[in-house]
Order: sequence, then structure tokens, then C-alpha cells
Amino acid sequence: MQGFETLKHKRSGYCGSFRKNDAGRKITVYGWVQRRRALGGLIFVDIRDRTGILQITFDETLNKEIFDRAYTLRAEDVIGVTGTVRERGDANTKIATGDIELLAEDLQIFSKSETPPFEIVESSNVNEELRLKYRYLDLRRPDVQKPIIFRSALAALAREYFIRNDFIEIETPYLIKSTPEGARDYLVPSRVHPGSFYALPQSPQLYKQLLMVSGFDRYIQIARCFRDEDLRAERQPEFTQIDMEMSFVDVDDVIEMNEGFVKRAFNDFLGIELSLPLPRMTYREAMERFGSDKPDTRFGLELVNISETVKDFGFKVFADTVAAGGSVRAVVAENSADRLSRREIDSLTEFVKTYRAKGLAWIKYGEQISSSFMKFLSENEQQRLIEKLDMKPGDTAFIIADRDQVVFAALGALRLEIAKRFSLIPENRYDVLWVTEFPLFEYSEEEKRFVAEHHPFTSPMQEDLHYMDSDPVRVRSKTYDLVINGMEAGGGSIRIYNPQLQQKMFEVLGFTQEDAQARFGFLINAFKYGVPPHGGMAYGLDRLVMIFTGCDSIKDVIAFPKVQNASELMSGCPSCVDCKQLEELHIKLTEE
Ligand code: AMO
Ligand code: AMP
Repeated sequence: MQGFETLKHKRSGYCGSFRKNDAGRKITVYGWVQRRRALGGLIFVDIRDRTGILQITFDETLNKEIFDRAYTLRAEDVIGVTGTVRERGDANTKIATGDIELLAEDLQIFSKSETPPFEIVESSNVNEELRLKYRYLDLRRPDVQKPIIFRSALAALAREYFIRNDFIEIETPYLIKSTPEGARDYLVPSRVHPGSFYALPQSPQLYKQLLMVSGFDRYIQIARCFRDEDLRAERQPEFTQIDMEMSFVDVDDVIEMNEGFVKRAFNDFLGIELSLPLPRMTYREAMERFGSDKPDTRFGLELVNISETVKDFGFKVFADTVAAGGSVRAVVAENSADRLSRREIDSLTEFVKTYRAKGLAWIKYGEQISSSFMKFLSENEQQRLIEKLDMKPGDTAFIIADRDQVVFAALGALRLEIAKRFSLIPENRYDVLWVTEFPLFEYSEEEKRFVAEHHPFTSPMQEDLHYMDSDPVRVRSKTYDLVINGMEAGGGSIRIYNPQLQQKMFEVLGFTQEDAQARFGFLINAFKYGVPPHGGMAYGLDRLVMIFTGCDSIKDVIAFPKVQNASELMSGCPSCVDCKQLEELHIKLTEE
């Protein structure tokens, strides 16, 4: 009876593992039917498991009963076959087992498959919604399995590396106190405490610091994190961190320990020998040169500050912006003038507007010089500008005047967009670097207060402490982000371990003493009992897997990912629940 058969034979190995030197062996394999072809008295069945495909031959003259059952096989039926390996006359060079086939002597059919909604083959062009709805079928495809299998190897390496370096793996809770600061929390209502909620952790941050207070000295965890934020190509509402923390360290110690891990990973998985120490770039330099705190340094198109040159030009947009404390900056796209049509430039203008730029000025150094603001420039001004931008015939310059924040965001994005459109990003190149000294605070226009750029436990740099009161945005912090090919792969900081400084930090963030006590009291109290200097960082495991496997979407590296609107298409969550469940949780839904 199908679905009740017991396995008659022990599996000899995975389908993809057999080679020429197995010829003559009697083996048993298990897997899914890839396809079945009948040719007169022979039936060929390709059997597939996660390692590959093996061809099986059923010969009518050998065993009619088995042959007849093989005739009923359809794609995705689950079978077991015992037989003898033999060399093939016509080797199939497309598969690793192509030199051999299995001559079937026994066949077990464990379960039949309906026709699947899409064919289970490599790199087929199936619509994403359908793939995710039938994710378990999608995951049968070898190319879809690859990053999932790689992920396991990377996680294993992280454990091995850190544990070998005296780190201890410790689990921290998933039901924690809501301490809003950063992204929005996912909340879990309490049945036992009406009206009270747990939050799912955005990261194990506070707990790992408390483990340092407890004296564990070095902590590692591969931890799930939950953040209710808008999804993007490299963001998921639940994602995984390789999270580490160490005691009695400063910036260089944490960086050194982590460079050892990054080097191992590049070496083991890509065969690339990174030279250490990795380059470091301050946040300020990254912004000035690349308009981004995660600079993609694989290509040029660096920003040029032309504020000084244009501040007394007749073009009011530029002069006024500089006078108001903003800046005027440019990127120069080399050899682009004849490839940049008016339409293309218009579309780049629309592009920068999505980053809140008010406009995009341009100069094209073609046969003649043309420019969007020509009529506002004298001959001499035009010449000075071209000199300042070091433009050569064939170049196009794009210029944005605005507040620094807008200029950096818009030009930073524009340089990536131009690089993409003109294919300027070299393949198989990995630029790995640290971005350091992020500002400690950022002013939030929305909340009308300073917010922590990293998190409220990040240590300021000693030399900037005096700005804590007078000019908080000038305070730099002991932070470091690991940037790989323009992606933030990880980040961390040295923490505050002085209770007074922590209190000061909360003050600048606008928390009263009572606020701080209510939110972070357990940490503040713990810090009264002897705190080691400590610091750490967390890698986005998903993002590392993307980088190492070349996947463009974070969904490709997660077995059961969520889509844009944070739902999971296969199970259909989030979903409604029974009234009874809500009642138990003391929750009443509002009309909407
Ligand atoms: P941070 O918030 O920078 O730091 O997160 C660390 C790393 O996690 C990854 N990451 C994400 N990956 C996928 N989806 C998301 N929504 C997402 N958000 C972040 C990034 C990021 O660099 N506790 C601190 C670390 C520390 O200070 O030790 C923290 O969570 O790769
Ligand atoms: P206008 O004065 O509107 O004709 O604009 C002249 C040129 O200046 C156009 O190319 C605009 O796109 C450009 N421009 C307007 N505002 C800005 C700005 N803030 N930064 C850069 N270019 C701008």
C-alpha cells in the first residue's frame, strides 16, 4: 500500500554520488522522479535527490513486473531503486553521473505526485508568487537549494571559528521587554498578564551586554532578530545575525578578531586570500567620497565638492544653496556623453528626485559643451567648472545642490545607478572594508530630538566627549561597519560601561531619568555592580550568504522568506485567529 511501504533496502548513497568506479556494484538509491522516457522494451527514469541525478534503466526482458510498474511513474513520484551500476555506452556529459546508469532489479514506489504547478528544473523562469506559494517544490530545485545549503556551512564556520577563539554560545530569550529605540517592535500579547506585551528582540544587544557583566567574557550566538520595518531587497522582518560580544577590548581588538573570521570565510568558500588588516575608512570620508556609509568602492564616480567654485556664480540655485549652509557636489561619468540621450538624462533626473533632490543639473562635454544651466553661466564660469571637475571630452557631470544630507543620498544613489546602467561594476571582485567613527547621534526632524545612530549603548570617542552637551551631532562614536561590495554585512561598537556616561547618553536622547529607568532599568542597575569594558558586533547572516552566493535577493537565501508586505505566501500568515484566542489574550479588535 502506497504511503505505508517500509524501506526494503538500506540506501547505499546519494543519487549524485556514483561514478564510473562504482560499475558492477549493487546499490540502492532513493529520490524523486525527474522524468521518465519509454523506448520500446526499455524505460529510462532519471532519479533526483539533493545531490544530483542518476539515470535508471528498466529492461522489460529482465523483470516484466517491475518494468510495468516503472511505466506508471510520473515526474515527482518518490521511489527507491535497487540494481547494479553499469557503464553507459553514450555518456551524458551534462550530469556528474553521466558515465553510468543503474540497471533496476527492484522498485519501490512510496508516493505518487500530482502534476506540480511548475516543472522542477534548474533556473526556470517561474513567477515568484507561484514559487513562494509552493516553496517546498521550489526548494526541490538544485539552484534554489544551493544558497540554503551554503548557509548551513557558513553558520558552521562561524560557530567553529568563534568557539575555537574561546567564545561561548549562549541563547538569549525571544520573548523580551519592549525597549523601543531603532525599528518598530513585533509585540506578543501576554495571556497571563492582561494588557501586557512581550516584544520579539530586534537583536540580542542588551542580553549580550549583560552576559559580559556576568563574566562570560566572550559570547557568540546565531540569533534570529525581528524588526517591523519596510522590506527591501536586502531586508526581511525576521533575519539572522551572527552575534558576538567580548570583554576587555577596544575597537582594534574587535576588528582584529572579526577580520580573522572574514578572512577564513573568503578563503574557505571563495578561495580568495584577503590581505589583513582590511582597509578602514571613516564615516566622514565615506560620505564625502561616495555619498554613502556603505560605499561600493569597486568603481570610481566619486563625489566632487564644488561649493567653493560655484558659490559666487551667477546661477542662483548654486549660490543660494551654499549661502544657506548646504553644498553643491557632482559626479563625473567618463566617456558617457554620446551614450546619454536627453531621455536618459530625464530619467536620471526623475531618479534623483526620489531621493528628495530638487533637480539634477548636468554638463555634457561632447563635440560641444552643453548644459542644463548654460544660460546662467558665463564663459569663464563654465571653464572654471570644467577645470574643477577635471572633465575631458566625452564626460558628463551631474550636479546637485541641497542640504548635505540630500546631496549625499541623491548623488550616492545616482553613482550606483549610473554604474549599473553603464555596467561599470566589475564581476568577481570583492571590496571588503570597515567604515568607522559614525556619528553618535542623528537629529530626527520627525521626532524633534536626537536619536542614536547605532544604539544608545554605543560609546562616544573620548576626544569628542566635550561635544556631548554643546553639539551632540559632532560626537563621533566607537563604531565599525563591515562593508562588502557596497552592502552593510555587519556592524557593531564598543559600549558605554560607565553608568554616568550612559545616563548622559539617555539625557541627550531626551529620556528623563524615570523614562530611562522604566525602559532600561535592568541594564542601568546591572551597571552598578562592576562592568568590564566590552564591545562586539553582529553580521547579517542572510546578507553574508547573499554576498558569497551572488544572490540579488535576500529571499533566495532564506528557506521560507516573507514578501514585500511581510506575509508568507505558502502558509498565508499573518492570518485571522479565533475570537476565543483573542479573548484569552484580552484583546478586542477595533471596528476597522
Ligand atoms: P545592526 O542593527 O547594525 O546591529 O544589525 C547588524 C547586521 O544585521 C543585518 N541586518 C539585517 N539583515 C536582514 N534584514 C534586516 N531587516 C536587517 N537589519 C539588519 C545587517 C546589519 O549590519 N546589536 C547590534 C550589533 C552590535 O552592536 O553588536 C545590531 O543589531 O547586516
Ligand atoms: P531652472 O532654473 O528650473 O531652469 O533649472 C536649471 C537647471 O538647474 C535644471 O537643469 C535643473 O534641473 C537644475 N536644478 C534646479 N535645482 C537644482 C538643485 N537643487 N540642484 C541641482 N540642480 C538643480
